[in-house]
Amino acid sequence: MRNEQLLPEMITLNRNSKYFFVVSLTILWIFLLRRLDNIKMFAPTMETVMFDEQYCLGYNFLRSQKSYVIYYKKIKTDQNFRFREDGLEPVTLTTHGTSGIIEEIEKTAYRWDGPISFALFIDFHSKLALEYIADLHRCDQKFREKVSVHIALRVSPYQMFCQPIQSPKSLRSCEDFILNQKKYRSEIDAPFELYPFNIMRNLARKGAQSDIHLLMDADMITSNGFATKVKKISNEMIDGKNKNALVIRIFEFHHKFFFVGHRIPDIQKWFNVSIETEKVSTWEIPYLGAQWETPVIIHRNDVYNADYFPARIRDVQSLVRVYLKVVQFQQFFFQIYKLCRANYTFNLLSHVFSVHEGVKIDDTIFSKAVSEHSRKYGRNKAFTRYVKEMDDLYPHTTERCGKFQM
Ligand SMILES: *[C@@H]1O[C@H](CO)[C@@H](O)[C@H](O)[C@H]1NC(C)=O
Ligand SMILES: *[C@@H]1O[C@H](CO)[C@@H](O)[C@H](O)[C@H]1NC(C)=O
Repeated sequence: MRNEQLLPEMITLNRNSKYFFVVSLTILWIFLLRRLDNIKMFAPTMETVMFDEQYCLGYNFLRSQKSYVIYYKKIKTDQNFRFREDGLEPVTLTTHGTSGIIEEIEKTAYRWDGPISFALFIDFHSKLALEYIADLHRCDQKFREKVSVHIALRVSPYQMFCQPIQSPKSLRSCEDFILNQKKYRSEIDAPFELYPFNIMRNLARKGAQSDIHLLMDADMITSNGFATKVKKISNEMIDGKNKNALVIRIFEFHHKFFFVGHRIPDIQKWFNVSIETEKVSTWEIPYLGAQWETPVIIHRNDVYNADYFPARIRDVQSLVRVYLKVVQFQQFFFQIYKLCRANYTFNLLSHVFSVHEGVKIDDTIFSKAVSEHSRKYGRNKAFTRYVKEMDDLYPHTTERCGKFQM
């Protein structure tokens, strides 16, 4: 009697558990597949940290590295390859930009004979830049050996946390990539928003793999063998404590291939020393005023830029690059002025120089644009904050450097 009663119940139970078993197995299987897929599609990830409640910053999205072939086809990568075979600290070119500047960085990797630290600004629209630059790093040996890439993203409204950035796993082969590189590059949209120049400069410096940094914007070209030529003297003069800055002479490169000195005096002496001697040397020059723009070599421990001067950019068309240029100029003044206020000594380097890549604009239009921009910008709160900050931090150098003006 009892058995007969139990039997139908047991059958249902049995059916249920079978059903349950199959369903859970399927779920587990799907879960496993997805995980495997994730691992394949997105590895590795890079942590990003919130900065100023506005940006997520991530270091070493890509790290410069050298690969050796040890045995037949066996490849060893050395992440610590840092141009240190001679026991000297290398000079890292620290630079920054949006996706629109990646092409310049590609060229720079062939031109610059040392490490490069590149801070890349991306937004939702320029996400393709990550994929592109990861492919570039994978497929272009020169780029991989020299360039490390750091990322800054603007956070969304109400975003509380910064998420890790997953390194995109490319579906393209290197053959395909190199063949169609130009096309893939042109598919990246440039961001259109506030570009935090000084945050980007600082990001590139903090992410650099060496302690000596050349601060230079990406539209400048350096003379041949720059990093090698200045390595020894940089190691002698720059130690992060003695407040020395090495200054690079700029030549403006106009359409007519005509060189004009960039305000730094002693051009005759500079040519004399650079031509008639082998050894790279420096001599002290005075601070040349609040409108002075120059690339400098300083140490990782030397002063950093004030990082609260965002500026709107749109660097898609060449015409608009003029505007970008104007802003870029202005932003550099802050750096040099701060060095002056912090009582740095400016030392001009012989033998090496940099050139502005042809900005094909009329000088008067350019200066008008600069002063117009300054006028508007001068009213900015950030400007007042900056002036006050300089006076508070460095009260004794007002006479040496003058009041900051734009
Ligand atoms: C440059 O060198 C020439 C001769 O080599 C000399 O006459 C001239 O005075 C030098 N100029 C400077 C500024 O050193
Ligand atoms: C700035 O440096 C010079 C030496 O280069 C020194 O004589 C002077 O006292 C310094 N000034 C301040 C305010 O530290």
